Amino acid sequence: FDAVDVIRTKRDRERLSEGQIDWVIDAYTRGVVADEQMSALAMAIFLNGMDREEIARWTAAMIASGERMSFDSLSKRTTDKHSTGGVGDKITLPLAPLVASFGVAVPQLSGRGLGHTGGTLDKLEAIPGWQASISNEQMMRILEDVGAVICAAGSGLAPADKKLYALRDITSTVDCIPLIASSIMSKKIAEGTGALVLDVKVGSGAFMKTEESARELASTMVDLGKDAGVKTVALLTDMSRPLGRKIGNALEVAESVEVLAGGGPRDVVDLTVALAREMLTLAGVDVTDDDLHGALADGRAMDAWKRMISAQGGDPDAELPTASERHDVVAESDGVLTELDALSVGVASWRLGAGRARKEDPVQAGAGIEIHVDPGERVTAGQKLMTLHTDTPDRFERALEFLEGGYTVSPDAAEGTGARGDVVL
Ligand code: URA
Repeated sequence: FDAVDVIRTKRDRERLSEGQIDWVIDAYTRGVVADEQMSALAMAIFLNGMDREEIARWTAAMIASGERMSFDSLSKRTTDKHSTGGVGDKITLPLAPLVASFGVAVPQLSGRGLGHTGGTLDKLEAIPGWQASISNEQMMRILEDVGAVICAAGSGLAPADKKLYALRDITSTVDCIPLIASSIMSKKIAEGTGALVLDVKVGSGAFMKTEESARELASTMVDLGKDAGVKTVALLTDMSRPLGRKIGNALEVAESVEVLAGGGPRDVVDLTVALAREMLTLAGVDVTDDDLHGALADGRAMDAWKRMISAQGGDPDAELPTASERHDVVAESDGVLTELDALSVGVASWRLGAGRARKEDPVQAGAGIEIHVDPGERVTAGQKLMTLHTDTPDRFERALEFLEGGYTVSPDAAEGTGARGDVVL
C-alpha cells in the first residue's frame, strides 16, 4: 500500500478497503506514514465520512495498534462510563465510587482537558498528593480492594489514537462522527471493560450541537461496542448549559464531594444516579434510584471515594486549593435568567486558567467559575450571578469578553424559562 493512494481513495469519496485501513493505521503508528499524510487523510474523512464497516475496521486497527487489558482475574464484574465531554462535567468523580459501593468494579481510564472541556485527571490533581499514573498491578489491587479507580491510560493502550487525536486537535478534524466514535471506542474496548455506558452530550458546550448528530454518534458507538462483545448503552444528555454550579478543577472536586455527602446540585445528582443505574444494570445488579440516593445519603459512596483517593496518594480530607483573585458578575436588571450558555462559560473558565491552550501547559487548580443562579430563576438588579476565580487577574477581562452574550436576564420572562432539559434516554 501507499499513503498517497489511501488519501486519494478517500479524497475521491471511495470506500477504504480493510487492507488499506489496517495498513495506514499500523504504518502511522510506526512513523512510516507521516503526520502531514495522516492530516490529509483525516481531513478527507472529515469531509467525506466513512460508512459503518469502515468505522468498525478503523476502530479494530486502532485497538490492534497497542495492548489489550483484561480484568478476567478480578473477582468482580466491571462496568465503565464515558462522556463525550462538556462543561462542568465532573460526573465521573461521584459516579465511580457510588457504583463501586454496590460491589461492581469501575476502571476509569481518563484523560486531561484540552480546549474548553475539562479533563478528569486535571480535576483530581487538585487534591493534594493525588497521583494519576499508577502501574497495572496497582490498578488491579485498587479495583479488588476499593472497587473504583480513576487513572491515566497507559501509553500502550491504542497508541494510534493517542497520535491521531493530537494531530486532529491541531488540524480542526476533531468534531467528526467516524473519528470520534472510533477514537473513544478503541480505547474503551482495549481497556477490556465488560459493560459500558456512554453519556453523549448534546448542545453548545458539546462536540455534537444537534440531537440528530448526537443520536448518530451514540448509535455508531453502541454498534461498535456490541460488535466487540461489550454490553453498551448510550444516554443523550443536555450540554446547552453547564452541568452543576461549579466549573474548574478544584471547584468541581468540591461540588463532587457535596454530592457524595448527600447534597449537591439537582442536575449533577440526577445524572450521577441515572448513569449509575445504567452501569449497574448492565453489570447484572438490580438497583432502584432510591437505593442509589441511599448510598449517597448514608456515606457508603463517600467511604468508597475516600478510599479511592487515598489509594492513589491523595488526602481526601485536605483543604482544596483556591484561587487568589475573584470577580463577581452581577445582574444589571430585575428579571429571569433565561440563558446560560455552556460554551461561553466553558471558554471563560478555560481562559481563567482552568484549561490549557497547548498540551504541555499547566492548569490552575483553583481557577474557574462558580454559578450562583440556575437558568429559570428570578434575580434582582445587583444580585450576584457568577464568581470568576483565577490566580492571574489580568485574565478577567478576556474571560468577561467570552461571557458577554452567554447569559441573558429577561425582564418579562416567566420563572422556569430556560431551565435545563431532562436526561434523554
Ligand atoms: N474524546 C475522545 O477520546 N476522542 C475523540 O475523538 C473525542 C472525544
